[in-house]
Amino acid sequence: MTASGIRFSDVHYRYPAPGGAVDALRGVSLHVHPGELVAVVGPNGSGKSTLGLLSNGLLAPNMGSVTVDGLDSTDASHTWDVRSSVGVVFQNPDNQIVGTVVEEDVAFGPENLGLPREEIRMRVDRALATVGLTGLERREPHLLSGGQKQRLAIAGVLALDPRYMLFDEPTAMLDPAGRTDVLDLIERLRSDGRGIIHITHHLADIATADRVLVLLSGRAGFLGTPSELLESPGQLAEWGLELPPIMRLTAALRDAGYDLPLSEVRPEMIAGALWP
Ligand SMILES: Nc1ncnc2c1ncn2[C@@H]1O[C@H](COP(=O)(O)OP(=O)(O)OP(=O)(O)O)[C@@H](O)[C@H]1O
Ligand SMILES: [Mg+2]
Repeated sequence: MTASGIRFSDVHYRYPAPGGAVDALRGVSLHVHPGELVAVVGPNGSGKSTLGLLSNGLLAPNMGSVTVDGLDSTDASHTWDVRSSVGVVFQNPDNQIVGTVVEEDVAFGPENLGLPREEIRMRVDRALATVGLTGLERREPHLLSGGQKQRLAIAGVLALDPRYMLFDEPTAMLDPAGRTDVLDLIERLRSDGRGIIHITHHLADIATADRVLVLLSGRAGFLGTPSELLESPGQLAEWGLELPPIMRLTAALRDAGYDLPLSEVRPEMIAGALWP
């Protein structure tokens, strides 16, 4: 059994709350491998963000375990290794941006690591190039667009060179262009060999994932490939998960006998199938 990856084993998590405890996760198992992109979808309150917070030890499971490359996330002697192995990016970039100009913001993490100046410079330049913000080093973050801000937040995480990344609805606050940029970036980070968990409420986002986890009231309702999930669109509707129009159309056309793939369908492919 390989130790590498983020491994959730029968994880339970309960929030203590004044009105009664909330069982947010009730026995979830998932192994995210290096270089793999796992999308996590599910209705509101199904436990997606809780799973995210457990991935790098921000929360500790009440039962079961979470390990990162074999290290137990709850073991205090591994806290640093676990936190630096799993970079996290949330919905709102404003909560993650700390610098007064772009390059300072990205340098913040590496500076805290006490790295030499040259190394910091190299990491900042590389992270900004990866996210496509080269040339904006001296720009004040509040002058950036929403999508640029989110890419800056991602650069700040990348400068720490994590092997895994968790994204919790990273495009929720972005316009379509900003959203596309961030999704493309997530793809590239996966092809660099990083293991990625992408929590999303856009079912369109699952198309490029290697696997999809559907959380339902804190349990895994489904874990498999996007194609397997899209085989039964009716099931998705029952779970309250709505396919975007192009995926609904594809599903209907496949039912009517047209030869179309289940995921990554573009409008031209539909036109080509209808009017060969
Ligand atoms: N700090 C907290 N204290 C008490 N209960 C909480 C807390 N955070 C989350 N919960 C509850 O735990 C459950 C899972 O919440 P979680 O935020 O993980 O769901 P989610 O799938 O991310 O939802 P959303 O789609 O709305 O982001 C919900 O019932 C939620 O109300
Ligand atoms: Mg959430």
